Amino acid sequence: MTVLRQSLRNRVVHWGIALSCFGLIATGILQMPVAKRYGLTVLAPAAGDYFLTLAWHYGFAAVFVFLCILHLIVHALEGDFDIVPQRGDLKKSMLIVKAMLTGGEEPPSEKYLPEQRLAWAAFVAVFALVIATGLLKTWKNLAGCDLPDPALFWLAQLHNLGMLLTILLFIGHMAAFLFKPNRKLLPAMFSGRVDAEYAAERHPLWRTKGEARAEKAESPSGS
Ligand code: HEM
Ligand code: HEM
Repeated sequence: MTVLRQSLRNRVVHWGIALSCFGLIATGILQMPVAKRYGLTVLAPAAGDYFLTLAWHYGFAAVFVFLCILHLIVHALEGDFDIVPQRGDLKKSMLIVKAMLTGGEEPPSEKYLPEQRLAWAAFVAVFALVIATGLLKTWKNLAGCDLPDPALFWLAQLHNLGMLLTILLFIGHMAAFLFKPNRKLLPAMFSGRVDAEYAAERHPLWRTKGEARAEKAESPSGS
C-alpha cells in the first residue's frame, strides 16, 4: 500500500526548479570563456556564442525565479509550513544520522525529516543570493544602467559563490540517498506516492491538513 506524499503541482515545481537550475549552471559556466578553451566549441559551436548562452541564461532564470516565488507564495497561502525548520532540528538531524549509521532507533519525524527542513532552508538562502545578485546583474545589462567597477566585481563574486554553494547543496541532496532508509522517499518525487508502512514507521507525526485541522478543533488551547 502507498500514500500520496507529493501532489502533482509540488512535483512539477520541484522538477521545474531542478531542470532550470541545471540549465542556469550550464549556461552560467558558458558565460565565462571556457567553451573555446576546453574544445567544447568543436562539438557545439553554439556553446561559445556568448549572446546565445546569455539569452538561454535569462530564459532559465525567468522560469527559476517564477517557480521559486510561486512555491513560497502557494505554501504560505495554504498555511503549509511543514518544510520550515523548527527549533531543535540540528540536534534531531544528528540523532537521525547517528541512528542510520549505527542501525539504532530514530526519533519520530513529521512529514519531513529535520535534515530535510534544514536542507530546504539552505536552498532558500542560496537561491535568494543567486536571484538577488542575478537580478542586479540583469539590471546592469540594461541600456543606461551602470554600476561602479568594485560593485560589479563583488556582484560577480557573490553570484559565482552562489553557484558554488548551489552545486554543493545539490551534491549533498544526492548524497542523502546514499543512506538506504532515505531512498524510500525517492518515489515521492516521481509517482508522488511512498510506501504506507515506511510513512507510518518513520513519519508517525506526519499529519495531513485535514487531520491537523481536526486535532486543532479538538484542543483549541493547543495543549
Ligand atoms: C542557480 C542559479 C544560477 C547560477 C548557478 C548562475 C550562474 C552564473 C554564472 C557562473 C555566471 C557567469 C559569471 C558571472 O558573470 O558572475 C552568471 C552570469 C549571469 N547571471 Fe547567473 N546564475 C544563476 C541564476 C541567475 C538568475 C536567477 C539571474 C537573473 C535573474 C541571473 C543572471 C545573470 C546575469 C545577468 C549574468 C551576467 C551576464 C553578463 O553580463 O555577462 N543568474 N550566472
Ligand atoms: C536528480 C535530481 C533530483 C532528485 C532525484 C531529487 C529527489 C528528491 C526527493 C526524493 C525529495 C524528497 C521528497 C519528499 O520528502 O517527499 C526531494 C526534495 C527536495 N529537492 Fe530534490 N531531487 C533532485 C534534484 C533537485 C535539485 C536540482 C534541487 C534544487 C535545485 C532540489 C531541491 C529539493 C528541495 C529543496 C527538497 C526539499 C528538501 C529535501 O528533501 O532535502 N532537488 N528531492
